Amino acid sequence: MQRAALLSSIALFIATLITIVRAISHDSRSLAPGGSPQATIELGRWLFYDRRLSANGEVACATCHRQELGFSDGRSVPTGATGMPLRRNAPGLFNSGELPSLTWANAEVRLLEQQVARALFAVDPPEMGVTGHEAHIIARLRADPEYTRRFAAAFPADADPFTWPRITEALAAFVRSLTARNTPYDRYVYRSESAALSDSAKRGMALFFSPGLACSRCHVDVAPPDRVAPPRWSDLAYVATGAGRSADRGLAEATGKPEDAYRFRVPPLRNVAVTAPYMHDGSLPTLEAVIRFYESGGRVGAGAEPERAAARHPLIVGFVLSDDERRDLIAFLEALTDEEALRNPAFADPFLSDGRTSLVRPVSR
Ligand code: HEC
Ligand code: HEC
Repeated sequence: MQRAALLSSIALFIATLITIVRAISHDSRSLAPGGSPQATIELGRWLFYDRRLSANGEVACATCHRQELGFSDGRSVPTGATGMPLRRNAPGLFNSGELPSLTWANAEVRLLEQQVARALFAVDPPEMGVTGHEAHIIARLRADPEYTRRFAAAFPADADPFTWPRITEALAAFVRSLTARNTPYDRYVYRSESAALSDSAKRGMALFFSPGLACSRCHVDVAPPDRVAPPRWSDLAYVATGAGRSADRGLAEATGKPEDAYRFRVPPLRNVAVTAPYMHDGSLPTLEAVIRFYESGGRVGAGAEPERAAARHPLIVGFVLSDDERRDLIAFLEALTDEEALRNPAFADPFLSDGRTSLVRPVSR
């Protein structure tokens, strides 16, 4: 009896070992055969900051995703590689690798690789505008010896690593590496640093989690006080707040279902203090404007269109705040910023740190 138990636990142990070894070898295969994951991330970083990757050589990923702004861009809506405005506001990118669905209103976009390919190849309207210019852009990259080295280091087993799937893979690896976890809120809750939050931010936190304001009902995905992992600051549902002034019908455009009209993904709020302007169309300029929008039950500042107003989620009903309370709530939202990540050299423009000229042009807002 005992011997049988021993044998079966040995068998289980061996089976587990085989599974782990398989998982590890599968992982390294999907990352880059023979190359190091770090070399792939580094290549992705160079590409992210390189405007030669766009059709007209003017627009880099970093034009619309700036580190100091949490990888958002400060504009209501950006303009792409043909000068045409995009339809929606550029979201921040920190921790987007942990989101199960990407973009403001398309639940089908699940992987960073998918969204990176969209940024590169979309035509209506174009972001990077690569479609139709593929060979020309690859030739530009090949001409830079820096890339000869970096593509070979990332993908040593490839006869010719200068391909769009490899470029997409490297960019996605870089975006996946953009993590921000060291916020005053994280230090206060997970490292018990009681002084990490100001008294005002602590009062704002109580308001945020209060049933009357209901912010946490949509913007928190883990239940405090369990707090096993930091929240992503979004439950990742699609709901209508009524915000927006455009003809943008939100999730319904992707699903074709009338009941999805004006629904947008609840945006994660990490680093939200630096990602203004707000909402899918960038129609609210400041955090104060966003809070006043919620105070008015989604009426003031946006959401003036009757159809949008009618679609509003039942939790968006309005409440009353004093000036002090509004300031407290803003102080709490500001405590969700990871200042270190905004300055982390590992995420910064590699052309500058290499003593070359930046290949990201400054844009006027
Ligand atoms: C012209 C501006 C522009 C450029 C250039 C651009 N993006 Fe974006 N990015 C956006 C906008 C706008 C969205 C939101 C799209 C939507 O919701 O439909 C977005 C969304 C994303 C997202 C999804 C984030 C989330 O939380 O859902 C990722 C990831 C991303 N971009 C990465 C990139 C990468 C990598 C590049 C370069 C290949 C790039 N972007 C180039 C404007 C831009
Ligand atoms: C019913 C769900 C729901 C509730 C309740 C809610 N939000 Fe939101 N929030 C959303 C959605 C959805 C958006 C995006 C709307 C859009 O783009 O049209 C959003 C957007 C935001 C934004 C802008 C983020 C960005 O990146 O543009 C902030 C800030 C914000 N909410 C804070 C709050 C605060 C503070 C409260 C409580 C007073 C709150 N929210 C209550 C669902 C909700």
